Amino acid sequence: MTMRTQWRDRYRDGFFLAPMVRVGTLPMRLQAQQYGADLMWGPEIVDKSIVGSERVVDDKTGVIAYVKGGKDIFTTHPSERQKVIFQMGSAAPETALTAAKHIEQDVSGIDLNCGCPKRFSIQGGMGAALMADPPRLCSILDVLVKNIDLPITCKIRVFDNIEKTLDLVRQIAATGISALTVHCRTKNMRPHEKAMWNRLNDVVSELPDLPIILNGDIFEYADVQRAREETGATSVMTARGAAANPSIFRSEGMLPAMDAAREYTKFAVRTSNSFVNTKYTLVQMYPETKSEQFSVLRSVRSYKEMCEAMGLSEFYESEGAALIHSRAEPSSAPSSNKRPTQPIDSADLLKRAKV
Ligand SMILES: Cc1cc2nc3c(=O)[nH]c(=O)nc-3n(C[C@H](O)[C@H](O)[C@H](O)COP(=O)(O)O)c2cc1C
Repeated sequence: MTMRTQWRDRYRDGFFLAPMVRVGTLPMRLQAQQYGADLMWGPEIVDKSIVGSERVVDDKTGVIAYVKGGKDIFTTHPSERQKVIFQMGSAAPETALTAAKHIEQDVSGIDLNCGCPKRFSIQGGMGAALMADPPRLCSILDVLVKNIDLPITCKIRVFDNIEKTLDLVRQIAATGISALTVHCRTKNMRPHEKAMWNRLNDVVSELPDLPIILNGDIFEYADVQRAREETGATSVMTARGAAANPSIFRSEGMLPAMDAAREYTKFAVRTSNSFVNTKYTLVQMYPETKSEQFSVLRSVRSYKEMCEAMGLSEFYESEGAALIHSRAEPSSAPSSNKRPTQPIDSADLLKRAKV
């Protein structure tokens, strides 16, 4: 079996965490992995941002951070090394290649975002702008496939016109990528509009050898099988379903959202994730938005206060406080009682969070 065939197999028959800016950072990915996600995509990171960043390993948590201008551009952990896909925004093959070379030692695949409809992406010639410029899109994939020793994939949306979609996917497949994710909405469709799964059948028939990953409107585990049956796609990816409750990946059923939110907080503390990022994600996830506790959560200014609001004070005092490093807390955070600690084993991170 060739390496390329083996790579393709990783993308078949899976249930994956979709790329999500801000939300799909390290704690969410580790939690998704713990609950059964087969692969986890990181949030889109623009190639220029990762180029020139410094790789810093935190000896307390084992977290690997790519830091630039004092900010964590991308963080990962050895315990997700076999499953994390780095998603890149790019408009130029040379910069994409430099970025991929910089990050390849710590990730398991590289994905090109060709579906983002945001103005920032389009104006920079990235995201959905690449779908309007197939030669450029394919030149980026081509250079990555030829020069990076990892599986290369990409994520697109559909066009209104099926022939146009099929023409694009044929060109993309010819670059030799290992899988293709199709978000079953057009560039102009809003997230609340129903994803058009029926558009995928033709893509699956057109490219029988390439794993096609369905994305759009997977909100519970039962949707995975339904999507497979209706479209013929063997793999499925969820974004908002996981953002609302990361335990969507559990084959034995979702946990109550509050339990998943509490578990998420622990993963964030154990990886010393940026407080601002953790709070943002937690607020989206918190199920009881009318409650007094939710107002308290919205006002917290440090991990100590966050853990108190989540009923995790004991966890924070016994374990968490010692793990939070200075880049993670906001500069305005009230001082905490940090203590020195032993470095923790990478496999231990997952073990400790068993639910
Ligand atoms: C908060 C958020 C951030 C997102 N960021 C990205 C991103 O970085 N890259 C990307 O390709 N898609 C991004 N998306 C789109 C999702 O990956 C996905 O295509 C879309 O939400 C449809 O899937 P869903 O119906 O399961 O939510 C984002 C979506 C959300 C809700």
